[in-house]
Amino acid sequence: MEKLILVNQEQTYFHLTNGRISYLLEIEDYGLVAQVYFGQAIREYHGQRKYPRIDRGFSGNLPGCLERGYSPDTLPRDYSFSGDGDYRTPAFIGYHADGSRLTHLTFSKYDIMNGKPKLVGLPQAYVLDETEAQTLILTLEDSVSQLVVQLFYTIYRDRDVVTRSVKVLNHGQSAIELHKVASLQLDLPSADYELLSFHGAHVNERQLQCESIAYGCKRLASRRGTTSHHMTNSIMLATPQTTENQGEVYGFNLVYSGNFAIDIERGQVNQLRITIGINDENFNWLLSPSETFQSPEAVMTFSNQGLNGMSRTFHQFIRERIVRGVHQYRERPILVNNWEATYFDFTESILRPIVDEAAALGIEMFVLDDGWFGQRDDDTTSLGDWQVNARKFPNGLKAFADYVHEKGLQFGLWVEPEMISFASKLYQTHPDYVLALPNREPSPSRSQYVLDLSRDEVQENVYQQLKSLLDEGFIDYLKWDMNRHLSDVFSYALPKERQGEVAHRYTLGLYALLERLTTEYPNILFEGCSGGGGRLDTGLAYYMPQSWTSDNTDAVDRLKIQYGTSYIYPPATFTSHVSAVPNHQTGRTTSLEMRGNVAMSSVFGYELDLTTLTESEKLSVKQQVATYKTIRRLVQFGDFIRLASPFDGNTCAWEFVTPDRSECLVFTFQVLSSAQPTISLIKLAGLDPKREYQNLATNEIVGGDELMSLGFYQVSRQEDFVSWRYHFKAID
Ligand code: DGJ
Repeated sequence: MEKLILVNQEQTYFHLTNGRISYLLEIEDYGLVAQVYFGQAIREYHGQRKYPRIDRGFSGNLPGCLERGYSPDTLPRDYSFSGDGDYRTPAFIGYHADGSRLTHLTFSKYDIMNGKPKLVGLPQAYVLDETEAQTLILTLEDSVSQLVVQLFYTIYRDRDVVTRSVKVLNHGQSAIELHKVASLQLDLPSADYELLSFHGAHVNERQLQCESIAYGCKRLASRRGTTSHHMTNSIMLATPQTTENQGEVYGFNLVYSGNFAIDIERGQVNQLRITIGINDENFNWLLSPSETFQSPEAVMTFSNQGLNGMSRTFHQFIRERIVRGVHQYRERPILVNNWEATYFDFTESILRPIVDEAAALGIEMFVLDDGWFGQRDDDTTSLGDWQVNARKFPNGLKAFADYVHEKGLQFGLWVEPEMISFASKLYQTHPDYVLALPNREPSPSRSQYVLDLSRDEVQENVYQQLKSLLDEGFIDYLKWDMNRHLSDVFSYALPKERQGEVAHRYTLGLYALLERLTTEYPNILFEGCSGGGGRLDTGLAYYMPQSWTSDNTDAVDRLKIQYGTSYIYPPATFTSHVSAVPNHQTGRTTSLEMRGNVAMSSVFGYELDLTTLTESEKLSVKQQVATYKTIRRLVQFGDFIRLASPFDGNTCAWEFVTPDRSECLVFTFQVLSSAQPTISLIKLAGLDPKREYQNLATNEIVGGDELMSLGFYQVSRQEDFVSWRYHFKAID
């Protein structure tokens, strides 16, 4: 097998390269692991890029080192430890049994293996066979505490990606308290980049923000127990003036769904340090002798083709090496969900006409949302009691699901398994299942509380309840919701010195539950959800191929939310529904055409009472459904390219292209009208310049080179909220 990891004769350099990207590490003096380079591939490293020795003053040296210019404080390092004279943000913080906080780990050995080792209990990128990737494992040791840290780097043969993770092994005689174990550290010799990240809120997820990097430290994080709507666990570093198609970009993403922290530090001599991993705030993990701790995995990408280049890498990677199972490449059904149609106010007889209408319109699945179980008529009760509400479904849930199936639709069901209401049978029998502190009443959020999934017996209870539902065999799809964040993080099952482990153990418990359920019910399509897109992350994508993008279904707001989501996530992983107007979140009225085009740009569905549509609206819906069936494979599994950003102004455009470049679908949007019509020049990307393409609406023939270089004009319309769709096919 051709080598992807090259080592020099002296075994001091490690060059991970696949001919597309290079990642270079050096074992520097005194056993420090130095970061040499990450970027476009170089053929062969001759070892000339040694970090200059300069005495910076107040940047001290390692024990026994008399070379004042060599300091752990200025060397670009690949992993750093608190207390050793590197005053930048450390990747690792550990408290030893004697109270000391210094850990000095130096290189001890390396191993190279084909493929990629498994991370036990965590989501992770996988390989299909051993030949598609190689992994470098650097083992570092602390001679005093006998602590061992292993740094894992996997490079794929055909992808512009390096995955990283860290394993800590306690080979000493005493326990050590881990306070921070970042999954990745990257030191760059200069900080001349722009930082792109995604802030947000409920109903306003993944809003792009771009800033220059100031001196000092910046932290992007979640302490909510989950990734959250509020901050995304991905960032990008781009050279100034980078556009969608030009410029150098580093992309980072954490394969994890719990508390995270991304630290960005611009240091004294304009260097940049990034660390990414579990949020160390309120985190500690007691590592007893001979125990190991495994960090989540982080993914790094490099592109010299702008942000679209980076997104292409992430999209393919997530679609092909994170998402698993029978639904990975299967076209996802067009659904109608009853949430915005009825909220809690429904019975079987109210829902049946919606099912009938859905069948007549060509929709493929009916999803029964919140309110079908326990005594749940509003959001104050019954979470934890996953038995059907007999008043709403007097003949049982199966009879209703049978009805849906008889109409030719699949049947989907909503659950919120991580939660509990005080007004529930589960709470009456197991009050200790709640995350809560002794002698303190836990804080409600949406009138509900969080189950302590760090405990095996709680996981088991949830598992058994879901199993009884799923074993009935009538559920084709499960929407797994989570409608509050963690507070009162304390577990009855753990001693006081381990309470800092609860949030991470909660996430591990969730993963264990999902692994079990998705393995035992491989044919069920799982959709992730957390009050919309509060947990749309790569960790969850490993178990659930798609996620609800936002509780905001307004077509205009969705432009930014979906555009922002697309920087990391491919359209097959996020869902979008046409809802009623005036929109329930914004009060805005947009055309059915605009709502359709926005929703058709990812995994498509409806979320309104279909029985209230006029005849002409039904006709439009029927056409949308029929159209989506013809473009679905292209939308869900083609290459997605951003053309015009809604964050920059009044328009938005994106494009889908088949991998063989024979077909392309373009959506463009105008938000507000203006008295003076504006003219947008739409230039496509990703086509074959040598081929001719036919516009399927006008039959016009135009060259791929023309579409990409000349583009075409689009004149604004004198109305608000307008959309256009263009479909081109190569004629060969
Ligand atoms: C939040 C979800 O995002 C909605 O789609 C809906 O399922 C509600 N929860 C139900 O409570």
